[in-house]
Amino acid sequence: MSAIEINKLSKCFRLYTRKTESAIERFLMLKRSRYEKLWALKDIDLKVDEGRVVGIIGPNGSGKSTLLKVLSQIYRPDEGSYKVNGNVAALLELGAGFHPELTGRENVYLNGSILGLTRKEINARFDEIVEFSGLEKFLDTPIKNYSSGMVVRLGFSVAMAIDPEILLIDEVLGVGDLNFSKKSFLKIKSFAESGRTILFVSHDLSVVGSFADEVVWLDEGRIRGQGDPTEMINNYMQDLQIRREEVHSKGRAIQSDLQKERSGSGEVTIERVNLYDADGNEKYLFNAGTDMKISVDYKVHKEIPSHSLYLAFHAFDGRMVIGPILRPYDAPLKDDGKIDISIPGLPLLKGEYYLSVGLFQDDWINAYDLHDRFYRFTVTQPSEWGIKGEIYVTAEIEYLS
Ligand SMILES: Nc1ncnc2c1ncn2[C@@H]1O[C@H](COP(=O)(O)OP(=O)(O)OP(=O)(O)O)[C@@H](O)[C@H]1O
Ligand SMILES: [Mg+2]
Repeated sequence: MSAIEINKLSKCFRLYTRKTESAIERFLMLKRSRYEKLWALKDIDLKVDEGRVVGIIGPNGSGKSTLLKVLSQIYRPDEGSYKVNGNVAALLELGAGFHPELTGRENVYLNGSILGLTRKEINARFDEIVEFSGLEKFLDTPIKNYSSGMVVRLGFSVAMAIDPEILLIDEVLGVGDLNFSKKSFLKIKSFAESGRTILFVSHDLSVVGSFADEVVWLDEGRIRGQGDPTEMINNYMQDLQIRREEVHSKGRAIQSDLQKERSGSGEVTIERVNLYDADGNEKYLFNAGTDMKISVDYKVHKEIPSHSLYLAFHAFDGRMVIGPILRPYDAPLKDDGKIDISIPGLPLLKGEYYLSVGLFQDDWINAYDLHDRFYRFTVTQPSEWGIKGEIYVTAEIEYLS
């Protein structure tokens, strides 16, 4: 049976184009206030079977949050319809449903009743909620003095206590400290295993890769793809990569601020960099510890006597986590060609990363061409591993008595 059924659903917002006019001006010239229609969701057809964990991915503004808000009755669709079979709990924006001036305790009651529990039902579950949140000491503190992680913990604990059949989650997975995010992942996992349905939005593709049974890819309000998580994440990453290259090639022509990402004297240029798995399939999603292959197509504009190949891996915030790897190549490059690079057992854990590729002169200071943090990819890992850390190592452990 379907837990959620969405038919030709569209949601439209009005964007007022004359932003500078004040309320009084708008009032006086009511008829002239102009707006554009923005279809945040367009013709969405989606069936989610009971017991599935579905991840929603897509760029900023693609309609992910809007979709969850429609399903949790915050927005009404403009066209089409949807049906939800079962009671729904939604974890949307951080602390939505909480009142900042009220204490944690008061908010548990408030939030619980918003989510459909009676006072008696909340009483019965109160201890469990507080215990899970780990916020005993802060129960009588107003929410406005909570840290954002603490707010999420409380919200999560209340939503879990109502034990919904369908859970909608927007970007709050993995928030909180190590201990809590592990606890919440395990909770969601057991929740999913008991046959509940979860629809979650995340930009953390490694979380999506390890959690979802199925992925829906949204793009400009439409479903761009739906199906196997690895395949969808790959397609989405590839699309992001293409857009990045487009931006970049335009940027070079008009000297945009993206220039700092690419530098070099240009005798030899890097034309294309592709990532592959061990079987030679183009990939932008890798499992921790598996093999990665990189191919670099270069073009020779003017012969160079020798060079060094440069590689580096960066975390999403730009920090270099591996490298620089510099490999001297002591022969001239005369003609266009390709370099194949093999990284056996990618030593990275779950996360979003960038790869830098460069061809340097022998001084290791000046580049012929450097693509700094150009190539984005994602690493995923089994959810049982927990979710912190960056470097993958294998360990052999032996107990001696
Ligand atoms: N209340 C609103 N009024 C007007 N426009 C809105 C409103 N809410 C969302 N939008 C617009 O609808 C589009 C989809 O927004 P939405 O928040 O669903 O995107 P998203 O996929 O969740 O993005 P993000 O990854 O940034 O969270 C955006 O263009 C946004 O500007
Ligand atoms: Mg959003």
